Amino acid sequence: MKDNFKINMKPILWGAATSASQYEGAFDKGNKGLDTQDLRAYIERTDNSTTSTRLLTKKMVEKAKKDSNNKRYPFRNASNGYFHLEEDISYLKELGIDIYRMSISWARLYPRGDEETPNEEGIKYYNKVISALKKAGIKIFLTINHYAIPIYLVEEYGGWKNRKMIDFYLNFVKTIFENWGDSIDYYLPFNEINAGYFSPYNGIGLIKQDNKDYDKSLIFQSLHHQFVASAKAIELGHKMVKGKFGCMIACFCYYPYSCNPLDNMKLVKEENINQWFYSDVLARGYYPSYMFSFFEQEGIDFEITKEDERLLKENTSDFVSFSYYQSSVISLKEKEKTAGNLVVTTKNPYLDATEWGWQIDPVGLRISLNKIYSRYQKPVFISENGLGHRDVLEKDGKIHDTYRIDYLKKHFEQIDKAKKDGVDIIGYMMWGVIDIVSAGSCEMEKRYGVIYVDCDNYGNGTYKRIKKDSFFWYKNFIEGKKEDS
Ligand code: BG6
Repeated sequence: MKDNFKINMKPILWGAATSASQYEGAFDKGNKGLDTQDLRAYIERTDNSTTSTRLLTKKMVEKAKKDSNNKRYPFRNASNGYFHLEEDISYLKELGIDIYRMSISWARLYPRGDEETPNEEGIKYYNKVISALKKAGIKIFLTINHYAIPIYLVEEYGGWKNRKMIDFYLNFVKTIFENWGDSIDYYLPFNEINAGYFSPYNGIGLIKQDNKDYDKSLIFQSLHHQFVASAKAIELGHKMVKGKFGCMIACFCYYPYSCNPLDNMKLVKEENINQWFYSDVLARGYYPSYMFSFFEQEGIDFEITKEDERLLKENTSDFVSFSYYQSSVISLKEKEKTAGNLVVTTKNPYLDATEWGWQIDPVGLRISLNKIYSRYQKPVFISENGLGHRDVLEKDGKIHDTYRIDYLKKHFEQIDKAKKDGVDIIGYMMWGVIDIVSAGSCEMEKRYGVIYVDCDNYGNGTYKRIKKDSFFWYKNFIEGKKEDS
């Protein structure tokens, strides 16, 4: 009898992640085109809101395109990864990770985005990256598109609101499959697909009109085009390559402020719209009916064809992945607020928060793993998790980031518990393994890495790499897991 109820405790993959625009730099090397991230300026923070750096207007885009003061635009040089490739991969090897999550810069392969053939220099660069990772014995998890979109596609075609984007994206995807299909183990068509709802410039390439809110119909039309593009990538991928395909949401892990049923009802609605809608479409293959009343209330209308419906239904994701940084609180009554990944939320009196206001909650990771797995019954990948912190390079030339070790340790304990709960977890990716530029606030000094990069918010520094104390901790942890298995 007991054997019938044995939980699958197979070891999970321990990994680390970056994204091309936050890591590579070299924005003007190898014929790369300009992309949406290259135009985002660093603006000194006066509070924890990232709106001013995330929602770009036409004026801001035009000004940034003409501005050659590259230090003002942190993504242009990022962590200088393009020039530190071999060194960085040797650190990843030393760290002992099983898998590395990276993305390919769309504008490095297709500088404008609508060309028929790829940029040879781009192919050469990613040949180098992928063969170095293979040589190091590290599996690859590829985010096909992690935010950065060639700016030409945004200005000329209007970004993802235009259906033509699906074909441009598919051309990019096909190039990836043809060149590196043998080497990639997991694919993610889009990073945090719900980001387009909160951050339309980053997520779906929509430029903000001056002093006007975004048109919600355009936001949902754009998201729909991404859903279809994702389904088409899966359809093609399942024919051309061996890897598995996922979908990804930014997970907010909502709690009701109280046991008042009305707080709970509000939670159900917000969670549906902010989080579940996106993975429901991609993992289940159809639009959930709870969105219909939202669309009606908000006067949202957009085109969905019969062929789109077929594509979604027949090409659902093989696994579900999510980023997890903090939990959030929903309250009917106005309460004190704090920032989180992409959204502002209500403060939780039981939790501490980072300097950026993100509420640290390891148990929330276990809760989220359980909820996502029971909702979809598909294997789950934690594609991002980590601590953004202001690290200090001490007089002894080291970085003693005990707070990061504590954060990782507590989250890893909860992953272990979730496995024992019965959640089928494929792997874990520590976000920003090598310090990278923050996607929300464009800061270099909001560091996530176990490897320090000597550079400040204005691009001043040597870009020298230094292993932090957390590097040795994570290395030991992974070694321990290998011995246990
Ligand atoms: C996720 C993104 O939203 O969170 C990453 O996929 C990002 O690109 C990460 O870096 C952390 O957010 P931030 O704003 O601290 O960089």
